Amino acid sequence: MTENLLSVKNLDVTFPLMSKGLFRTQIGEFPAVKKVSFNLKRGGTLGIVGESGSGKTTLVRAILRAIKPTAGSVLFQARNGQVDLAQLPDRSLVPLRTEMQMIFQDPFASLNPRMKVYDIVAEPLQIHAPREKSDHRQRVIDMLARVGLEADALQRFPHAFSGGQRQRIGIARALILEPSLVVCDEAVSALDVSVQARVLNLLQDLQESLHLT
Ligand SMILES: Nc1ncnc2c1ncn2[C@@H]1O[C@H](COP(=O)(O)OP(=O)(O)OP(=O)(O)O)[C@@H](O)[C@H]1O
Ligand SMILES: [Mg+2]
Repeated sequence: MTENLLSVKNLDVTFPLMSKGLFRTQIGEFPAVKKVSFNLKRGGTLGIVGESGSGKTTLVRAILRAIKPTAGSVLFQARNGQVDLAQLPDRSLVPLRTEMQMIFQDPFASLNPRMKVYDIVAEPLQIHAPREKSDHRQRVIDMLARVGLEADALQRFPHAFSGGQRQRIGIARALILEPSLVVCDEAVSALDVSVQARVLNLLQDLQESLHLT
């Protein structure tokens, strides 16, 4: 039996409701995510469906600890053993950031327009693996090839690419640190239907070859 890479139990995210005006005070609470539980096996895929505003993005932001959940547990099988992401202090999260990555909805908004493709894709390496600097260039070139982009993309800026190609750049950036967990928040909804299919096929191939969950 395959182990659970991720096990979410009774996850709650409650936002404070603030009054308007100069002296803002809390006037209530808004439960955006309530008692969510699921298991996700290593190598598996889980789709989360719900209408706009139902809390999908809030749920994954809480799992990846972009925000702190109000209650519940998020057990994650990290390289060095199991951790509860819901409980960890911020500084213990830093090394774990390499193991879980997010692919965003909007390839136009999520890439810095002033950075060249090389810098966009290499930035996570520069932050998390600065000592392996001599390998960075080759790792970026290899990852671009995996997502179907030529090495001549390296010195170009995001505006010189189509939506589908930009999403491939975002995917390369997300995968460069070899994460085990990849969260796609409507990763193809901003793309044309035929481009959606190609990007989804790419994600499926990468899931298999890179053992992604
Ligand atoms: N930082 C925040 N402060 C207060 N309320 C928030 C915050 N972030 C999200 N919400 C509220 O939580 C609810 C869930 O929002 P969320 O973005 O998670 O929905 P979603 O399911 O991802 O929607 P969509 O399909 O439109 O992306 C919404 O009512 C939203 O207004
Ligand atoms: Mg959303």
